[in-house]
Amino acid sequence: MDNDGDPEARPFQVLRSTWQPVALSRDLKAGGIISYRLLDEDIVVARMPSGLAAYKDGCPHRGARFGLGKVVGDHLQCPYHGWRFDRGGQCRLIPSLGEGSAVARSAKVASYAVAERYGFVWVRLEDREACPIPAIPEFEDPAWTYVVAEPTPFGAGFRREIENYLDMSHFAFAHADTLGKAAIALIDKYQVTEYPDGFQMDAAFPALSTEGAAISKLQQAHDRVQRCHMPNVTTIRQRFHDGQERVLVHVPSPNTRTSCTVFWSIAISPGFQGPAPDQQMAFAVRVLDEDRVMCENQRPLEVPMRSEACRYVPADRLALTYRKMFAGFCAAAPAIPADSAPAAGCAHPSGAGAAISG
Ligand code: FES
Ligand code: FE
Repeated sequence: MDNDGDPEARPFQVLRSTWQPVALSRDLKAGGIISYRLLDEDIVVARMPSGLAAYKDGCPHRGARFGLGKVVGDHLQCPYHGWRFDRGGQCRLIPSLGEGSAVARSAKVASYAVAERYGFVWVRLEDREACPIPAIPEFEDPAWTYVVAEPTPFGAGFRREIENYLDMSHFAFAHADTLGKAAIALIDKYQVTEYPDGFQMDAAFPALSTEGAAISKLQQAHDRVQRCHMPNVTTIRQRFHDGQERVLVHVPSPNTRTSCTVFWSIAISPGFQGPAPDQQMAFAVRVLDEDRVMCENQRPLEVPMRSEACRYVPADRLALTYRKMFAGFCAAAPAIPADSAPAAGCAHPSGAGAAISG
């Protein structure tokens, strides 16, 4: 049976086939293990000598969490009774059976695809890849300065965060203390172009000046390109009138239906005349915290897949474009049986030791 009939369940089913960031590369040291809740599923990622490995978090023996385990060679060792699993999730050692004893093939934990890019560790829960990690060349160009932020938890659904990031009509209000009280509230027409993998907004952006206060570089007028890659990667490119640029990315990685962790970073063009990268990051942290407060104080906490009882205005066009394209992305994905997700069941639910002795 599938549960495609529940439109609010459909996004998490579909996103299982997409890459989602779950950690920063710099936080996952050699031999390290990190725990994360992705799409309502507890997972762990370990850095082993031959590369990364990602698993469902829950030992098939008696359900211990792997986050307290350790990496032994290219194996993940469970903290409770020391079972060891290879990168594919197959158990290779059960110490209580004795070294060299055969291990049943059913002694296995689900493993997942894992990749590293842009300083993030990305996991995909299903074998099928709905779309690749989007290419953002500036993040891999050594001539640019690339700064990776601390991931930021939001107590709101990932679509709330995306719609906030796309929205420009909240600056004068939600960001009055950072971007400027005189930020223009009136939103001019902007151009939106749709692509097979998302959409792009192009607009000339006015200076965000506050009377009596000097305008910093980051508040100057610029040409702005906002590009959304389905299902949840959004970049903003700012091209200032002196030709200098910044590219920012936001990826709200879903934890639960009403919480996400925003992975984000900034790339700064060579010779950028403005605040130092750490100052730019500190400023962006303040701005993002103002966004967090807004997202956490919208109701419901996630944008409904069904139509919402709201009154929209033309300035909401980008958010509505996202809703339309995300709904299409979900509709185009193949149906996923509700019971297809690998379960963290015990290898021998009957308790019969013979079942795992090979
Ligand atoms: Fe993992 Fe026993 S619970 S080895
Ligand atoms: Fe904002």
